Amino acid sequence: MQLIDGHWQLAGHDVEDLADQHGTPLYLYDEQTIRRQVKRFRDAFSAFDHRIHYAMKANSNRDVLSLMKKLDLGIDAVSIHEIRLALEIGFDSHEILFTPNGVPFDELEQAIELGVRLNIENLSYLDKLGEAYQGDVPCTLRVHPGLVMPGSPRDATGWYQRSRFGIGGDQISEALRLIELHQIRVEGLHVHSSSMILDEQVFGAAAAVLLDLARKLPSVRAIDLGGGIRPPYRAEDDHPDLDALALSLTKPLEQFENETGRSLQLWFEPGRYLVAESGTLLTRVHVIKQLGDRIIAGVDTGFHQLLRPKLYDAWHEIRNISNPEGSQHLIDISGCLCEEDDLALQRSLPEVREGHLLAILNAGAYGYSMASTYNSRPLPAEVVL
Ligand code: LLP
Repeated sequence: MQLIDGHWQLAGHDVEDLADQHGTPLYLYDEQTIRRQVKRFRDAFSAFDHRIHYAMKANSNRDVLSLMKKLDLGIDAVSIHEIRLALEIGFDSHEILFTPNGVPFDELEQAIELGVRLNIENLSYLDKLGEAYQGDVPCTLRVHPGLVMPGSPRDATGWYQRSRFGIGGDQISEALRLIELHQIRVEGLHVHSSSMILDEQVFGAAAAVLLDLARKLPSVRAIDLGGGIRPPYRAEDDHPDLDALALSLTKPLEQFENETGRSLQLWFEPGRYLVAESGTLLTRVHVIKQLGDRIIAGVDTGFHQLLRPKLYDAWHEIRNISNPEGSQHLIDISGCLCEEDDLALQRSLPEVREGHLLAILNAGAYGYSMASTYNSRPLPAEVVL
């Protein structure tokens, strides 16, 4: 978003005009930002034979998905509904990797029928898959992040250990037994380390563990390092350098190739890195009230449309579109739901008055896709610019 002659502009459009045209609340996505992020990702890993499966849970807007298809990305899906949507958009079933957990096995069977690839994260599914298909259906195996990062400083907080996803270290031998028993063809190994990767050695460490396991499974032809790369949500945020992440992969991969003569493809499934910065949620201020020493701006969105501040204390930058050059005031921004619904507290913004338009930035990932109709409010409109 750029301030040009006192007016905020987004992708060449006047932001006030967009709100007038489409109403508020309104999700806007800037296509060029998505293209830029896809290019950055590709460039960083260009030294490797790699494939990107976009994690569509981050943003499953149809136009965004069509763009990802145009950019030749595959899909990381987590439900049969995501799979159906991706197929409708035109993704080939082989470009879709399905990572289910807790869903009935029937959902996996439907995915198999549609020709989608499966990523298996527990022994129960692995056994059922083997029994039902006797090795006719290949899969990838998802391992627990604790297996990958046992020595991480974050162990102290149990971050990696607490994850409930993936096959744990103490279950690998049982997994290998089931694979052998049912003659299951394991084509890939997968880990999703966390959803806010900051440590640039994570990918290298993950690759080393997956490659160790790949030595025992000659059918493996890809390792999948998941998503979780965090773009900067605000300027001073710590965020990993993609080149450093890529560099951490060189040694373990070279070592594997030299030892085994096998060269594996690298798969990634970024969500937020590709779409977070593209998204802006526009909202109108309808009430200004004072309560003690707090000044509160009441806006026409809330955690039904952007849950991240409420759920994770996530910080999203906010701009006052209507008064870009006003004097700075501290203000709380609260949503319109029937309960505590703070979107931001004690923000310094150019003076906010009733009728002003606010923009909540970096809302392109897990914004609309986590929205609900709480308080019977309809979902907001979305526009791709
Ligand atoms: N792959 C797997 C297996 C995942 O579970 C996820 C995210 C991704 C890829 C994509 O991760 P990303 O690159 O977007 O970080 N609602 C939360 C995030 C939950 C993510 C769950 N899994 C948020 O608003 O931050």
